[in-house]
Amino acid sequence: MEPKNILVVDDEEEMRIALKEALHRAGYQVTLAGDGEEGYRLFNQNPAELVIADMRMPKMSGLELLQQVREKSGSVPFVIITAYGSVDDAVEAMKVGATDYLLKPFSADTLDDLLRRVFENGAGAAPSIPAPPRPGKERAGDTSRHIITSNEKMKHTLDIALRVAQSKSTVLIHGESGTGKELVARFIHANSDRSDKPFIAVNCAALPETLLESELFGHEKGSFTGAVVRKYGKFELANHGVILLDEITEMDPALQAKLLRVLQENEIDRVGGREPIPLDIRVIATTNRDLSKAVEEGKFRDDLYFRLNVIPLHLPPLREREGDLEVLIAYFIKKFNSMMGKAIKGITPEAEKTLKSNEWKGNIRELENVMERAVLLAREENITNDDLMLVPQAASLARNDAHADITEPGRTVSEMERRLIERTLQSTQGNRTRAAHMLGVSIRTLRNKLNEYKSSHPESVGQGN
Ligand SMILES: Nc1ncnc2c1ncn2[C@@H]1O[C@H](COP(=O)(O)OP(=O)(O)OP(=O)(O)O)[C@@H](O)[C@H]1O
Ligand SMILES: [Mg+2]
Repeated sequence: MEPKNILVVDDEEEMRIALKEALHRAGYQVTLAGDGEEGYRLFNQNPAELVIADMRMPKMSGLELLQQVREKSGSVPFVIITAYGSVDDAVEAMKVGATDYLLKPFSADTLDDLLRRVFENGAGAAPSIPAPPRPGKERAGDTSRHIITSNEKMKHTLDIALRVAQSKSTVLIHGESGTGKELVARFIHANSDRSDKPFIAVNCAALPETLLESELFGHEKGSFTGAVVRKYGKFELANHGVILLDEITEMDPALQAKLLRVLQENEIDRVGGREPIPLDIRVIATTNRDLSKAVEEGKFRDDLYFRLNVIPLHLPPLREREGDLEVLIAYFIKKFNSMMGKAIKGITPEAEKTLKSNEWKGNIRELENVMERAVLLAREENITNDDLMLVPQAASLARNDAHADITEPGRTVSEMERRLIERTLQSTQGNRTRAAHMLGVSIRTLRNKLNEYKSSHPESVGQGN
């Protein structure tokens, strides 16, 4: 039998050479390309039985190459190499149809395992690759929005929500980011007699004051420069239904006064309009800060606060919802299984321990993202620590080091990368060659990165060898 041909596409020469040697040793034929364009050309000349491509390359990225190769040959196994710390790349690649991924740095054993998986499951070019899942959109249009909980505090809160749903009273939902405030607002709407009327959400923090005003109240054509057409405000659009004023604390004082008037009078004046428009509307507001404190500090009008705070609902953070982590994990596995056509059964005890020890600053949203990634990346029937990408290495590094958590939500990938590099250098006592090896990048790349950091913050990167 002819040895199988593997196309390796990587812009780093060291990586190409290392892969070539390892693959030769394992009995494969290897073709090398230094960037995506060259890779695509070579693939066309001589179709490979496996493509292994780095994610980040000049000219054409691994992802673009993957897409082009998929158009041409839907079923050839395609493995993406991504750097540890750029998890989202792996996720993205799996979504557009990569067969598998390798996280740099990887060992020879990892590579062997990968080849076995690819060639044994798929017998080369067999169509064993699942259709790429429909990416993205589902969550927005997901109508089966369940509120999952087994926690007494949450059940009590939902009980109140259900009881007040029928009334027209204003509800103020308070909770940390990602605790389900919008979900609960929609739950109230869905269980009210306004459920067939609009539910309109306005994020008060997203727009500058003047835009927010016309967003809320609308404007007549020509009422200000740029108002070229008549615009309906969100209040008007939500009439007879529910308006969600998201992140109300961020609203500017001048606009707070206008909002108060609208709530008192039950009518709105369109900017530049003549006739006030009568309103029959239910208001739900959310805040992730303590609104009473904002009132004390003089940042939020007390009269508006009292008007909004008729029915206060507090959503506890995930870490205070005893019992919920378990049921949410099971729920998200089921949800993402069906979205991605996978059949993950559960989670290993170690992975569960990792999830339990996480802080969940981003609450259920963060858990949902972690689980989406894990289900997508899982190769066994149970989700492992590796799939969580709350990377134990990073976690333990962070634990040993009081001042940072590499994987804190909200950090940019480049920030995480920088931290990882700094941390690795610390652990090698500044030895760049060893650090580069550990990180799976060339010494040249590491040097470039360090120079970059040095020019932005000259004092913060240690001296190396
Ligand atoms: N109890 C729950 N069961 C299932 N999914 C949940 C639950 N709570 C929240 N979610 C999901 O978590 C995500 C975040 O929820 P949501 O947008 O309602 O939070 P939020 O409090 O409005 O967040 P933010 O403050 O960031 O706006 C959503 O995708 C939502 O469907
Ligand atoms: Mg929200």
